Amino acid sequence: MSRYLIGIDVGTSSAKAVLIDEKGGVVKVVAPEYPFVTPRPLWAESDPEDWWEATVKAVRSLLEGIDPGDVAALGLTGQMHGLVLLDADGKVLRPCIMWNDQRTGKECAELTEAVGAAEVLRITGNPVLPGFTAPKIRWVQKNEPEIWAKAAHILLPKDFIRHRLTGAFATDVSDASGMSLLDVGARRWSPEMLDACGVKAEMMAKVLESPEVSGRVSAAAAKSTGLPEGLPVAAGAGDQAAGAIGCGIISPGVVSCTLGTSGVLFAHAEEFAPDKEGRLHAFCSAVPGKWHFMGVQLSSAGAYQWYHKTLGGGASMSDLDAEAAGVPPGSEGLFFLPYLTGERTPHPDPHARGTFTGLTLRHGRPHMTRAVLEGVTFGLRDALEIMRDLGLRPKQIVASGGGAKSPLWRQILADVFATPIVTVNATEGAAYGAALLGGVGAGVFDDVGEACRSVLRETSLTEPGPAQTVYDDFYAEFAKLYPALRESYARTAELIEKHG
Ligand code: XUL
Repeated sequence: MSRYLIGIDVGTSSAKAVLIDEKGGVVKVVAPEYPFVTPRPLWAESDPEDWWEATVKAVRSLLEGIDPGDVAALGLTGQMHGLVLLDADGKVLRPCIMWNDQRTGKECAELTEAVGAAEVLRITGNPVLPGFTAPKIRWVQKNEPEIWAKAAHILLPKDFIRHRLTGAFATDVSDASGMSLLDVGARRWSPEMLDACGVKAEMMAKVLESPEVSGRVSAAAAKSTGLPEGLPVAAGAGDQAAGAIGCGIISPGVVSCTLGTSGVLFAHAEEFAPDKEGRLHAFCSAVPGKWHFMGVQLSSAGAYQWYHKTLGGGASMSDLDAEAAGVPPGSEGLFFLPYLTGERTPHPDPHARGTFTGLTLRHGRPHMTRAVLEGVTFGLRDALEIMRDLGLRPKQIVASGGGAKSPLWRQILADVFATPIVTVNATEGAAYGAALLGGVGAGVFDDVGEACRSVLRETSLTEPGPAQTVYDDFYAEFAKLYPALRESYARTAELIEKHG
């Protein structure tokens, strides 16, 4: 009898694979790492062959000690928005241009002008943003015409792994939403956007709903990975949409907050009703026929990791947390702007930069640590304020990702958001959600709702405390800092271009 499900997350720095049983219990997790490089300022690239190598290693390790015949299905998820180009023989043509690559400011403006800003928003639910896929295609067309001439297939990261596993060229609606090429309301490629981007429809993968079976493990992939030939592979979802399944964000009223490398505030939507100004991403959900809103912060727990590595002086993160817990909320006027890799929500600006303001002789490492945690949280509150503006009133927020393991950070979230914060038992993020989607595809669960109901339960609750009002005041000041610094960030970018 089949007993296991596998989820694979083709992430920014590792291929995380999780093996779960049919009750949702985590049996094994592995995450072989690979590098990504920044060959020039604003660039971020990664080699898809490294992802495949890591995936093979991860799957082989998961299958040690179990009968591979007991695996019922596999679901895929991964970093969104990346551009993978293959030639007609399926060969990778150049490194993937990743989600956090910010080189395409000009190309975004060109595409927006070609289609019209209002029309882009109406069709794709979002403005064309530098992280998204379509402007990267245009960049390759302009800067690497010899590569573009050979391109036969355009794929997102997890869909490259799907191709290697099954031979299929397929994607899912949630991940496809982040390409600026999908008609997000109609859940199919937009001829108008493809046209504006100079892309033939046959270069695009087949679009499926997330739990649908996209293909089956081929004989060749079975040989490389040890998976059974014919194993169903579900379409899966972009990492944020898959992570939301693992947090149970499948109906209105509950919002999730993921503190990973990037930070995301995510809300389910029954209808496709994008914000008229495109302030939040409006994407298809992994729940068939539904949508979601999402605010994306580019450096979240990633900012804390950077701080820990460069300014933490060798202390562990929990030691840093303990020191920061002794500092009053508001860090005695020290602010941190977390824009270490530019920003997306609510300031789509590749040139925004990480900044401490308000340093005095009184401030030491404990203050700086607390200011980093507060600054990331204030940045996420920016997205929450837009959700509130759109009429969303979350009764509680489900926190996940590495940052959510810190009780201090959960308290700061509860206080800054003035909303109770809960955590759930599924702590393996997007990979876990992908495994559940695999289970739905293979008929282990009736639908996504049943999958979530049968495996998820709450593990902690953090209520907002008296610091809420203090944070309301400090947040109001935080919100003024980016507008005050925007011009300086832009001018500094010019200076770096000029002087290096
Ligand atoms: C979502 C986004 C990130 C990446 C990397 O829009 O850009 O979540 O998918 O994790």
